[in-house]
This record gives sequence, C-alpha cells and structure tokens, in this order.
Amino acid sequence: MPRTDAEWTLDFEIKGAERDAALANAAAIFTGWGLTMPPCEPLTPHFGLHDFYRIGEIEYWIVNDRVNNYCGKFLFMFDAQRCPLHHHKMKDETFFIVKGVVSMTAGDKTFSMKEGDVFKMLTGTDHTFAAVGGPALVLEVSLPSVQHDNIFADKRIGKDGVDLRHARPAFSVSTCSAMKVMAAMPLRRQCASSSCWTSALVPRTWKWGTSGFPTRLRWPA
Ligand SMILES: [Fe+2]
Repeated sequence: MPRTDAEWTLDFEIKGAERDAALANAAAIFTGWGLTMPPCEPLTPHFGLHDFYRIGEIEYWIVNDRVNNYCGKFLFMFDAQRCPLHHHKMKDETFFIVKGVVSMTAGDKTFSMKEGDVFKMLTGTDHTFAAVGGPALVLEVSLPSVQHDNIFADKRIGKDGVDLRHARPAFSVSTCSAMKVMAAMPLRRQCASSSCWTSALVPRTWKWGTSGFPTRLRWPA
C-alpha cells in the first residue's frame, strides 16, 4: 500500500543557527580527536521532538546502497544525548564505538560500551543508546536504511519514523576520504560483554594499500 507523508515526521532536524552551532561544536570535537568525517551533508535529527541536546544526534552517512544492500554511518552524540528507543523490522545493525562511552540498551539489557567495542543489534530488538560522560562517536554498519523501517516507541515521532528520503550520504563524493578515517581506527578490541561479537566480526588482517582501500581481508577461521 502506498505510504503518505503524514506517516512520517517531516520536520525532524534542527535548522539555521542552531544547526550551524551544533555542527561547529561537533567539528571542534572531531579536530580534538584527530578525525575527519565523510564529505557528506550531515543529518541533525531531533526526531520531531525539538529537544536536540537530550534526544538527538548528528549522522554522517558514508553510504546507503539499496542496490548492493549495505550501509555505513557515523553517529555522533554530545554528552548525554540519546538516540530514541526504536527497532527495525528488516535490518540488523552492528555498532562499533569509535570514541567515548556509550550506554547501550538492547531489549531489556542496558550495558556500557567503550572505545573499540562492537555489538550486533538483531532485527526486531528495541534499542536506544546515549553518550555518557562526554561526547561519543559510533560507527554503524547495517543493511540499508529504508523509509518505513524505523519504528520508534515514542509515537510523537511519526508512525514510520522520520523522513529519510532526502538523506545525504557521501558515497558519490569521495569514498577515499571516508575510508582513510576508518583506516585510522582500532580494528580489534575484546569487548567485556559476552554478547559482543568483536572477534567474529572484525577481520584479523586488514591491510591498506596506497589507494586507501583494503588490499587483503582475511576472516577468522
Ligand atoms: Fe537502529
């Protein structure tokens, strides 16, 4: 059945001076971390709740390829900022903590994740996460984001989530820049949580050629 705009939250981002200030503050933090974000136009959702520094995040979409079925995003949160509780009917997501400490809730479990930790969120699991004790940066790797697969618990957010039809990934601009950021990240860190899949998901060998792309990928036996 065709869906209508009324089912989505169209006004879901901070705008104007508020957006400029948030992006500038985030950029200063990235500089301090020695990181460069992908060359995309970030999303700055408040999810229609207009309380950005409590419920909000900044999303840098590296790629959202619905043809080849993969997606990668950086999710940045200021201290105490939270992505609201939601689940997906079609995609699962794997989260890698690049910077900071994140309080992650998956179903009825809440646990702390630190830099280098990895967690796989299974399809259909209610989840929410927040930065704790400072800003945090998360790499999310998943199946593609599609319009009607973000089901939020707070029904003030549109029944089918926010309007992502005009999301602005970086894949067509300069993938090399994004890959260089990923190349600078730590690739292996054992997670304290038994539910983390670190050793299963992160390759033991990942070498980078002069082009910035991986030249060899070997999965654990
Ligand atoms: Fe999610």
